[in-house]
Order: sequence, then structure tokens, then C-alpha cells
Amino acid sequence: MAETRLKGKVAIITGAASGIGEATARLFASHGATVVIADIQDELGSAVAALIGADKCSYVHCDVTEEAQVESAVRYAVSKHGHLDIMFSNAGLLFLSPSILELNLGDLDKVMSVNVRGTAAALKHAGRAMVAAGIRGSIICTGSIGSCQSGNGPAGYVTSKHAVLGLVRAAAADLGRHGIRVNCVSPSGVATPISCKATGMTPEEVEQLTTSISSLKGAVLKANHVAAAALFLASDESGFISGQNLMIDGGSTVVNPVTLQIIEQASNGA
Ligand SMILES: NC(=O)c1ccc[n+]([C@@H]2O[C@H](COP(=O)([O-])OP(=O)(O)OC[C@H]3O[C@@H](n4cnc5c(N)ncnc54)[C@H](O)[C@@H]3O)[C@@H](O)[C@H]2O)c1
Repeated sequence: MAETRLKGKVAIITGAASGIGEATARLFASHGATVVIADIQDELGSAVAALIGADKCSYVHCDVTEEAQVESAVRYAVSKHGHLDIMFSNAGLLFLSPSILELNLGDLDKVMSVNVRGTAAALKHAGRAMVAAGIRGSIICTGSIGSCQSGNGPAGYVTSKHAVLGLVRAAAADLGRHGIRVNCVSPSGVATPISCKATGMTPEEVEQLTTSISSLKGAVLKANHVAAAALFLASDESGFISGQNLMIDGGSTVVNPVTLQIIEQASNGA
């Protein structure tokens, strides 16, 4: 039986040529949404759209650091499909620097440009299209455990993801009066090109690292887990939820693994 949690809805997903965005594009389409993939990897993005099916998904080139391209992607979705109900602002960039002492300010600018400026542009132009059409839409932004915690990513990335959460909260206030919900999904490490490339780890090593910091055992974080959270926030099931940062982290940001281990060792020895 076909899933219908997004039946009739139109969604733009930035950064959906790969990883979390791609998994979400597939899931949204399988739930009845019409999806527009907005990315800079034209070949990959077009191939993902073709695999999902031309009747359910299309690709548009969109560098989120260029406001005009974000505006044009929104215009494309509205003119092709009549309206915009969901924006998943997910495109992201990650550079590794070992310490703030080695922080390359040029890299900081690049990370801020994609992660923060890109998110701001998505919020602004999706918000405008929804307000203009009287759509009580849902905007979801991809944060990270770095949106509320350091130590698991470089300074520039952590700074940018804190700012993404700030934008989400500010937009929830501004757009709430129009009935538009704005939320964040914040995963810990997912084995995708961004995390593997930045850390030099294999997918298995990324997953092993994530599992080791999670208090939830017996589960491995996959892009599909993030897609499922985005689906919930995009659907009417989350109709009274706005301004939230939904952590997809197996409890890693709320349970201190060091304290937990010490207490477990102490109780085993007792
Ligand atoms: N993988 C992780 O461990 C992890 C953890 C927490 C948060 N995130 C966040 O998840 C989001 C998706 O990343 P992913 O893990 O799926 O990685 P990914 O590398 O698979 O996907 C990132 C996508 O963003 C696109 N992109 C990059 N710059 C862009 C730009 N200027 N304009 C448009 N698209 C652009 C890339 O082409 C790519 O398709 C990012 O915001 C990332 O920061 C990832």
C-alpha cells in the first residue's frame, strides 16, 4: 500500500544529490510528495531525480550561497507545481581543522556561507513563497549535534550549526504568525561523503564512532533515520511543533558517556 503522509505536497530539498538529502528525497516522494532536488552536483542530482521518477522528482542547479539561485529554485518549484509546502534546507559543508589555533578564516567564511547564508536564503525565499500563497508550510533545516555541543566537529562547523539553530528559532518567530512551522533536525555522525571526506574515515569507521558515543545501543545511525525525522516534521503529524531542534543522536548529547561508564564500572565492581 502506498504511503501518503505527504500526499499532494511540494517539497524542495537542498543538498539532495547525496547522503541525507537524497534519502529524504526518496522518502518524501514515496509518501506522495513532489520533490525538487536543489544541488550543485548536476549529474548526480539529475540521476537521483531520474531514479525517483520524472513524475515525482526533478533537479534544479542551485548553489545555496547565491541568494538569486535559491530564489530561482523556489520560483521553479512554484511555477512547475503551483505551490511550495515544504523546504528542507539541508545542503552543508564541513572542513576539518584540529583546533581554533589553526582555524583558517577563509575556510570559516566558506562554511558560514553554505551552512548559514544558504539556510537564511532558503528560509527567506521559501517563507516568502508560502506567505504569498497563504500556505501553512513546514521548513526544516539540517543542524547537527554541533548545533548544541562542541568537541565533535571543528570550530567553524560548530559555529555555523549553532547559527543554523539561531536562524531556525528566529524564523519560527517570524513565520509562525503566518502559520508556517520551522524546525531543525540534528544528527550525530552519519556515513555520507561529507563526514567520510572530512575525517578520512571509511563509512564503517564513521558508524563505529557514532555508535561509540551513543547511549542507545544496538542501533546504527543511517541517513534514513534523519529522513524519517524530516518526514515527521514535514507532515501534518507535527502540526503544533515549531522552533524545535530534534536530535537524532542516540542520546549522545544528553548522556555523558564518561560518567555513565564510571558509574557502570563502579556498580559492576560493587
Ligand atoms: N554526515 C554527517 O555526519 C552529518 C552530521 C550532522 C549534520 N550533517 C549535515 O547534514 C547535511 C547533509 O550532509 P550529508 O551528510 O548528507 O553529506 P553529503 O556530502 O552526502 O551531502 C551534502 C550535499 O550538499 C550539497 N552542497 C554542498 N554545497 C552546496 C551548495 N553551495 N549549494 C547546494 N548544495 C550544496 C552537496 O553537493 C551534497 O549533495 C549537511 O548540512 C551536514 O552538515 C551531516
